[in-house]
Amino acid sequence: MKTVFCSRYSVYPFSVLQRCGIRHPKPIPFFGNMMLFRHGFFDAHRDLINQYGRVCGYYLGRRPVVVVADPDMLRQVMVKEFQKFPNRMKLRAATKPMTESVLMLRNERWKRVRSILTPSFSAAKMKEMVPLINTATETLLNNLKSYAESGESFDIHRYDCTLAFPFLIRPLSFIIPNKSRDEMNGFFISCIQKIIKQRDELPPNQRRRDFLQLMLDVRSSKECVSLENFDVVNHADEQAEEQPQVAEEAANGPGSSGDAPKRPQQKRMMTEDEIVGQAFLFLLAGYETSSNTLAFACYLLAINPDCQEKLQREVDDFFTRHGSADYTNVQELKYLDMVVCEALRLYPPGFRFARDVEEDCVINGQFLPKGATLDISAGFLHHDPQYWPEPEKFIPERFTPEAKASRHPFVYLPFGAGPRSCVGMRLAQLEIRMALVNIFKKFNVVACEDTKVPLQLKSSTTLGPKNGIFVKITKRLNSDDI
Ligand code: HEM
Repeated sequence: MKTVFCSRYSVYPFSVLQRCGIRHPKPIPFFGNMMLFRHGFFDAHRDLINQYGRVCGYYLGRRPVVVVADPDMLRQVMVKEFQKFPNRMKLRAATKPMTESVLMLRNERWKRVRSILTPSFSAAKMKEMVPLINTATETLLNNLKSYAESGESFDIHRYDCTLAFPFLIRPLSFIIPNKSRDEMNGFFISCIQKIIKQRDELPPNQRRRDFLQLMLDVRSSKECVSLENFDVVNHADEQAEEQPQVAEEAANGPGSSGDAPKRPQQKRMMTEDEIVGQAFLFLLAGYETSSNTLAFACYLLAINPDCQEKLQREVDDFFTRHGSADYTNVQELKYLDMVVCEALRLYPPGFRFARDVEEDCVINGQFLPKGATLDISAGFLHHDPQYWPEPEKFIPERFTPEAKASRHPFVYLPFGAGPRSCVGMRLAQLEIRMALVNIFKKFNVVACEDTKVPLQLKSSTTLGPKNGIFVKITKRLNSDDI
């Protein structure tokens, strides 16, 4: 009896995908198709989609997962029919503080926290971050200087990490090695709690303007935006900032910001646990993704020296007009922008992201069952020859305004899309651009015998280099001494 129950339990859900007409490889009891991903998800997604189509499936243990790489369907899922897919996949093994982070929160709690957090990433708040990013960039340049002087090859992925740290507290970097997850989480929680207490005791003008402070400021601020303005990727929040009534009208209907009686202002607060959760997430999400992008961009410029020279010409011209880079002037660097976009196309750190199906529904003619998880394959789309001729080549000109306008917008998703898109996109772009402009002002990044082409990748959670990125650095002849 027990054996029959056990075997039924192990295979019971394995008919779900087939019943929906979603093709998939044969699952094995208890494990489903987990073995397909033992070497990471990036190549496995490509193989699955090539074999079973742009909407196909697999079983993660007993959980049915639908891989989606159809841009029209993604537009529906991520934006138009967002209310049917507002949450990411529930992870049973996740613990505090990660479960309190906006990445993992669900439904109304996610909406509340995200509406409070979004204004912390506004253009005005990013301008406040510039001095901290400058300090971190200086540390980075000093590290690079010693490698330029030694003439040795080194792993640039390890050494650009300092950059991603400035927006949060530093101590975590010292406790990561040799600690269990619980010890680390416990240490982090008490550390943040102590800092919150210290900050509250300081007069406002003496508080360090980092991310933690931006979140703490939120406690006394009335700023918050509505769901319609969460989409950082499409700058909906910028619009809301310029015209506060837009956010209100979007929430309450057209005309609601005029003379009509106002809705009572809902008190929007984050608990201390939630603040700790966001701080923890920002450290992890912001650190790895930004440092990977920076290292990938340096690698691509090292193996494409023509592009590097073109970028350096733009950078030199920039510094004839400006003493230093900041939030506003860095946007003049159009070629730099194309280089970063193309690096994120070839190597998107967030190469896959999930949405849970909240109710049975039909999207673009495909039935999706409640309880399934959608696995959105940005990595596959970024390399799809149907949209990107010679997809493995580094061609920044794919991102001229004309080229962008002629492409389906949902084939390029480095920061996701819709209300659940990356809230930190603006910060990431600012950090990466400020670092690159300063690096290529002073240095050349050069491929050498240790530089691996093609690069080996690891893709379990984020996409990163498997064995580091080895390059050499030389000082530019015209660069003033650092
Ligand atoms: C190059 C750097 C980065 C990349 C490529 C990246 C990419 C992504 C992607 C693909 C998602 C999922 C979007 C979706 O599901 O539609 C995401 C979500 C998120 N990212 Fe980033 N990210 C980067 C940097 C950052 C930084 C610096 C922060 C914060 C300091 C951050 C915070 C977040 C948060 C909080 C979410 C979850 C948003 C929500 O669920 O409402 N990211 N990111």
